[in-house]
Amino acid sequence: MLTLKLSAARLVDEAVKQAYPSASLTVAELLDMIEYPPDDSMGDLALPCFKLAKALRMAPPKIAATLAELCQSDDFSSIEAVGGYLNFKMNAGAFGTRLCQTISREGDMYGSPRCGEGKMVVLDYSSPNVAKPFHVGHLGTTVIGHSLKLLHEFAGYRTMGINHLGDWGTQFGKLIVAYRLWGSKEAVEQREIDELVALYVRFHQEAENDPTLEEKARAEFKKLEQNDPENIALWKWFIEISLREYNKTYRQLGITFDSYNGESFYTDKMPREIERLREKNLLKIDDGASVVDLSEWNMPVCLILKRDGSTLYPTRDIAAAAYRAENYQFEKCVYVTSAGQSLHFAQWFKVVELMGYDWYDKLVHVPYGTVSINGAKLATRTGNVILLKDLFACAVDKVREISREKNGDGSANEEIAEAVGVGAVVFYYLSNNRMRDINFVLEDALSFDGNTGPYAQYTYARTCSILSHTDSKGTFSAASQTPEEVALLKVLAMFPERVKAALDEYEPSYVTRYILDLCAAFNRFYHECHILSCEDETTRESRIALTACVNTVLGRALELICMKKTEKI
Ligand code: ARG
Repeated sequence: MLTLKLSAARLVDEAVKQAYPSASLTVAELLDMIEYPPDDSMGDLALPCFKLAKALRMAPPKIAATLAELCQSDDFSSIEAVGGYLNFKMNAGAFGTRLCQTISREGDMYGSPRCGEGKMVVLDYSSPNVAKPFHVGHLGTTVIGHSLKLLHEFAGYRTMGINHLGDWGTQFGKLIVAYRLWGSKEAVEQREIDELVALYVRFHQEAENDPTLEEKARAEFKKLEQNDPENIALWKWFIEISLREYNKTYRQLGITFDSYNGESFYTDKMPREIERLREKNLLKIDDGASVVDLSEWNMPVCLILKRDGSTLYPTRDIAAAAYRAENYQFEKCVYVTSAGQSLHFAQWFKVVELMGYDWYDKLVHVPYGTVSINGAKLATRTGNVILLKDLFACAVDKVREISREKNGDGSANEEIAEAVGVGAVVFYYLSNNRMRDINFVLEDALSFDGNTGPYAQYTYARTCSILSHTDSKGTFSAASQTPEEVALLKVLAMFPERVKAALDEYEPSYVTRYILDLCAAFNRFYHECHILSCEDETTRESRIALTACVNTVLGRALELICMKKTEKI
């Protein structure tokens, strides 16, 4: 991995070993201590030596002075002690040459944290509930989940993306009853999931006046559990109809799953877990239900079996985790859901630990905040819920409109409109830390002037356009060092550490923000420096090389957050 910070940390590490042989500090610890100063007039990196004072038992200014004496590298034009700080100034010529060579050699792999080799990560995400609307609330789990999958793959992990469909439970009894009473094959075939949702909604309305409906629904679900062929056929059909719908959205996002094993898949895998819970004496009877007491950990009981012996959401999750541990030998099993489910995960993670499973500490819950929508008129037939497909359609429509105006001739490229419209929604969503609650304003997301997806894709297209006008790959030159070029180099060099942080903290928004930093630096460079029109050949070649590096890194970064690379816009 090549980053300016890493280069500095290695240097300091050597110097510490020389000057203070008894101190034990790692490069990783030093990496954490080195900072990007807010104002780079003093340097491009700074090591606040008070952070070392304890380990080295010496005053910070003395440490800084000692290290300054010992540190020397081509990557830095100066390394100076200023008070208690060790300040590093990048040698743009030498470091830039090394960086551009690295990026052009490694291409798409530049920035890979390379920490996943030989390891498997399971990611459980998206996971909508069948026959219920796929609404904007699912945007988070779907794009955060998929981006985390891509980040892990980038780091060399093998991954298993699982769509843990909510395809089991009493709601199917309700749907079967509603379908037989008020539905028809034609209506479902024609209106697909909308019809299923409507039937489900109607069931609840009618059940308010007719309590026997609930009873009937339970009976139908019981029949389903007992493999009644007619009910099984209906249930399978409902899933198929729903998946057909979800797949449209997944296709727009470029998402595929390695497995669609939903909750129903674990039906025959639960008895074994319940047996184990009994053996370990973990089950208590509470008002007829079987639960695990978690009061010692300040959590409510975890429900395992209802009073009538039927299983619950946590029961299925426990069985699913055990199945995955056995079949996929995961290093980590990551669950992406709204923060509303945090307690559920904390509870059953604890239960699994109590069950004595040694993989309990490999389970990771990645929560995210809520989404609300403002400004755009997106109300749907289903009432207040806003469907993800409607949000995407609305965004794509707007982009089409904008490009028709821009092109003047009323034309719009469909593929581009879709990539930009869908990308705008994804980018906007992934611009904030995942725990932040988001208020969606479509106009803001689609703006070409703001820090948006269209702006990022436009910048990418700009690099493509420049490169399409030359056959040269460019060669970075130490001679060309305007402030904009130096600043751009620095941002390019930050890519690996931003990716690593995104991976470590399960936070794709770090990549989104990196994209904005890179776009800003590139656009400043583009406006201030002549690239293809530069008279001096060495400088021109150097700027082509920089543009090619931005093209590689920006394209890679866009892909990591589920965005399409648009060569034209
Ligand atoms: N189907 C659930 C929902 O829509 C999410 C499932 C998350 N994954 C899991 N293994 N519990 O709320």
